[in-house]
Amino acid sequence: MASVPSLASTVQQRLADALSAALPEAGSADPLLRRSDRADFQANGILALAKKHKGNPRELAAKVVEAVGADDVCKDIEVSGPGFLNITIADRAITGTLAARAADDRLGVPYADGAGTTVIDYAQPNVAKEMHVGHLRSAVIGDAMVKILEFAGEKVIRRHHIGDWGTQFGMLIQYLMEHPHELDHEDADVSGEEAMSNLNRLYKAARALFDSDEEFKARSRDRVVALQSGDEETLALWQRFVDESKIYFYSVFNKLDMEIDDPDVVGESGYNDMLDETCRLLEESGVAVRSEGALCVFFDDVKGPDGNPVPLIVKKSNGGYGYAATDLSAIRDRVQKLGADTLVYVVDARQSLHFKMVFETARRAGWLNDRVHAVQLAFGTVLGKDGKPFKTREGETVRLVDLLDEAIDRAAVVVREKSEDLTEAEVAERAAQVGIGAIKYADLSTSASRDYKFDLDQMVSLNGDTSVYLQYAYARIKSIIRKRGSAEPVAHPELPLAPAERALGLHLDRFGETLADVAASYEPHKLAAYLYQLASHYTSFYSECPVLKADSPEQVENRLFLCDLTARTLHQGMALLGIRTPERL
Ligand code: ARG
Repeated sequence: MASVPSLASTVQQRLADALSAALPEAGSADPLLRRSDRADFQANGILALAKKHKGNPRELAAKVVEAVGADDVCKDIEVSGPGFLNITIADRAITGTLAARAADDRLGVPYADGAGTTVIDYAQPNVAKEMHVGHLRSAVIGDAMVKILEFAGEKVIRRHHIGDWGTQFGMLIQYLMEHPHELDHEDADVSGEEAMSNLNRLYKAARALFDSDEEFKARSRDRVVALQSGDEETLALWQRFVDESKIYFYSVFNKLDMEIDDPDVVGESGYNDMLDETCRLLEESGVAVRSEGALCVFFDDVKGPDGNPVPLIVKKSNGGYGYAATDLSAIRDRVQKLGADTLVYVVDARQSLHFKMVFETARRAGWLNDRVHAVQLAFGTVLGKDGKPFKTREGETVRLVDLLDEAIDRAAVVVREKSEDLTEAEVAERAAQVGIGAIKYADLSTSASRDYKFDLDQMVSLNGDTSVYLQYAYARIKSIIRKRGSAEPVAHPELPLAPAERALGLHLDRFGETLADVAASYEPHKLAAYLYQLASHYTSFYSECPVLKADSPEQVENRLFLCDLTARTLHQGMALLGIRTPERL
């Protein structure tokens, strides 16, 4: 496996070398290379550099041109306007670089420099509760980031911080204690939906009793105390709720075509025996102080509407621990025991203030520092077609399973229309890949921080920026390659390239750079955008350049080679987003 430097990075390096030779006082200056419509690339950095060092921009640019000269990679380099450089790449260099990519399993994509250990907190639903679209976003974005970071060579540890602790369990456990057969199963393999409906039924019954019966309420409160003090019988019943919920969670993740491993599910309860110590450390170091009986951390810039500071409460005045104490303990665990140098939290933007305070507290305590940092990959709200937070017509949260099933049903219609010769089993398999892909892609193709509209019609559309469009592009390429037989097409760097071939080729060459950017910025939508552009470049190529009917056998071969590399890049890119690319559609 050999990594292949992109043409852009080669040119960038040559320009940078020429620049520092021409203007030594600038040190290692950035020529600011960009893709351009006029030539292949344009360097825009010279103007500002020349001004900064009181030189003439056009003269400096001319010096750089002379130093770089035309070579095997740059076919043409010329000064334009007040001091820009236009660079045209040699056709031979484009095809040659792509051939080197094709020879590598990783398409020549290098591992990131200085890879470390990232703990990523994502896909964290709550026990005994239905999953909603917010949980979908965390799961989809988190799963893509895991794959992208691992591909970049990062060691990734997954943590599913499920909500499995809290006072609400007192009521549930007490109810189950008094109605012991409510969670009994006739047969061992209860489906995810049955598990959730059992939990829903139990939740409603317990709630009704809690609201109407003062004595049950009192017994429930005592049950919370028993749970917190580790009473065995209470814990055993609590465990049954967790287990029942996991059956449901795993069924949803499975439908989402997502692998979630049990050892990575470490919920809030997993940090219980660290909570005391976390509070002690915070209090001893003075990071947290007592205020009205509670243990609090204050921040200059966090104030309520009345202007009074709003603290992060790590221990309540009644001695109870909340969400913050758990998250602070989880940071210690992830940094000190798991050895993380980066913590990523894929969590709703509405929890941003919480994480801001938690991270700042951890920094003051020294658990986060220059070497270990934390980021929230905050995502926006899922909206309905009406632009309001996504709810059913009755105003209830939409059940995730219903949404997934509906997407799969819609996809089945599209698949059936497009290809009439598929068996029912094939339709079902493709529909799942298309439907789930559509949901994932819609989520991943807009910047995570933005809200997005959940619109199934648009999601499974064949036109526009959808996964179905990309899946069809992939399947079409594969069918062309199949027509030609099985041999791997070989590149012919000696052939001149048509404009659409060059555009496609230069875009293919940017795959590694795109991935590096996505991994560093935690912005998977940039990968989605890259893939969509790739499919668009391919479409132009395909309409302008006949493949199987090209002028010469070499040209047929070279164009097939471009088709093949496009397919492999699409396949790899989609896989990193967690989306399947069926060979036939
Ligand atoms: N379970 C929480 C929710 O449903 C999300 C947990 C986020 N992760 C964390 N470490 N706090 O909103």
